[in-house]
Amino acid sequence: MTSLQERKITKNLPSPQRFKVGMIGGGTVSSSAYAILSGDSSGNHLLSRIEVVSVAVRDLKKIRLIPQDILTDNPDSIVDDPNIEIVVELMGGTEKARELIERALRNGKHVITANKSLVARHGNELDALAARAGVSFKYEAAVAGGIPILRTLKTSLGANKLRKTMGIVNGTCNYIVTQMSDHQMSFTDALAKAQELGFAEADPTFDVGGRDAAEKNVILSKVAFGKDVDVSQVLADPELVKGITSIESRDIECARKLGFTIKLLAVSEIKPDGKLLFFVSPHLVENKHPLAAVKDAYNAIFIEGDPVGDLMLYGKGAGGGPTASAVVGDILNVVEGISSGVPVISASTLGSAEFATLSKEMHSKFYLRLLTQNCPTAFGGIMWLFGEANIAPEMVQQSITDRGLLEIVIITEAVSSQKLHNALRIISGLPYFEKTVNALPLLEAS
Ligand SMILES: NC(=O)c1ccc[n+]([C@@H]2O[C@H](COP(=O)([O-])OP(=O)(O)OC[C@H]3O[C@@H](n4cnc5c(N)ncnc54)[C@H](OP(=O)(O)O)[C@@H]3O)[C@@H](O)[C@H]2O)c1
Repeated sequence: MTSLQERKITKNLPSPQRFKVGMIGGGTVSSSAYAILSGDSSGNHLLSRIEVVSVAVRDLKKIRLIPQDILTDNPDSIVDDPNIEIVVELMGGTEKARELIERALRNGKHVITANKSLVARHGNELDALAARAGVSFKYEAAVAGGIPILRTLKTSLGANKLRKTMGIVNGTCNYIVTQMSDHQMSFTDALAKAQELGFAEADPTFDVGGRDAAEKNVILSKVAFGKDVDVSQVLADPELVKGITSIESRDIECARKLGFTIKLLAVSEIKPDGKLLFFVSPHLVENKHPLAAVKDAYNAIFIEGDPVGDLMLYGKGAGGGPTASAVVGDILNVVEGISSGVPVISASTLGSAEFATLSKEMHSKFYLRLLTQNCPTAFGGIMWLFGEANIAPEMVQQSITDRGLLEIVIITEAVSSQKLHNALRIISGLPYFEKTVNALPLLEAS
């Protein structure tokens, strides 16, 4: 073949399809996603075929890295633009974002979001809507930022019967407990430092109260176990969602002396009867357990499955770059699907999740720190009531606090949480009893 013929053939080949993306939001995550999509594409050849054609923002005058000529203050123009195939929602909030995503899906566009609150509340309906429209709805970035956890659960681990996920999914809480244990800081000082460094919001209640972790756990439960958890039900139940506000320096110290560290874990476990054990709580994690080594603002998800066994994914759970990595990964996944001609099935859309019946029956050893008045009968009375409740302690320590109270630290045998809480309710009625400072499950290394 002559070089002239070669040139002619190349010329006649259809030019590779280009994929037009519209982004709603031009803030932290969008700017990083835009930088990846408009930068060096050597990492994946498909990157060069993706073009961000429009970005919706609120304030057109704000200085940003995204070129002015593709900015709009009208997000409707993106979801209604027939030339845009992929809509990336990165504006946050639930109502307006939901309305725009629904319209984009109905208009036959693939949608990607990092919006965990929206997915935790409406993910199931939006998955179903996407499936009906024959498009993808993806939200890898909504849980644990840069860690590719959802696709791993659904696709890479698709051969497994998954049993349990335990996640450190809130970087703010993990940063605070790390500062408390590694630098002997009080909760208040650790929180102030987290705020100073941008790891915590000015109003940190959503994070330190465990609510952010609970929303992410709703998504994990859906993707790992196909269970649709009612987010408002769990957020309204203080037994199911506990944050780190009750953790005192003394708990950190007691944990350290016992060979443990305190971590906020979001746990989701499928029981043999099909019920879902779902809770967020600080745990005493044995120092030998891989989750104990997850420090500062890092996230990790520990997974138990069969036949894979135990595994853990670890990485940055927030920040523009890591979150944009997950967003662009979703875009590439959609583009791969379209280019290969294989129907695009969202990693998280393989059938809608069924309504979850929750179990509150957790079986674990517990760390207890109790305060009572320092009277001669106090210790004996409390231990007698544990005996009556059929709960044997594995370890008991007593000491007198600065305020002259008797502090009792107990590690129980493995018991059901209901049985323990019933015993603590009876104990709290003793006339000399002051309070249960903390009752936290233990996670031991296997
Ligand atoms: N940041 C992270 O580390 C992280 C991690 C995981 C998930 N996420 C999620 O990712 C999403 C984006 O977070 P972000 O940190 O990038 O937020 P951000 O910096 O506050 O950016 C939000 C963007 O949305 C735009 N916007 C808001 N309302 C709008 C409206 N009605 N119409 C048009 N544009 C509107 C804002 O415009 P202006 O710039 O004009 O104000 C801004 O550009 C959120 O759902 C968040 O929960 C973030």
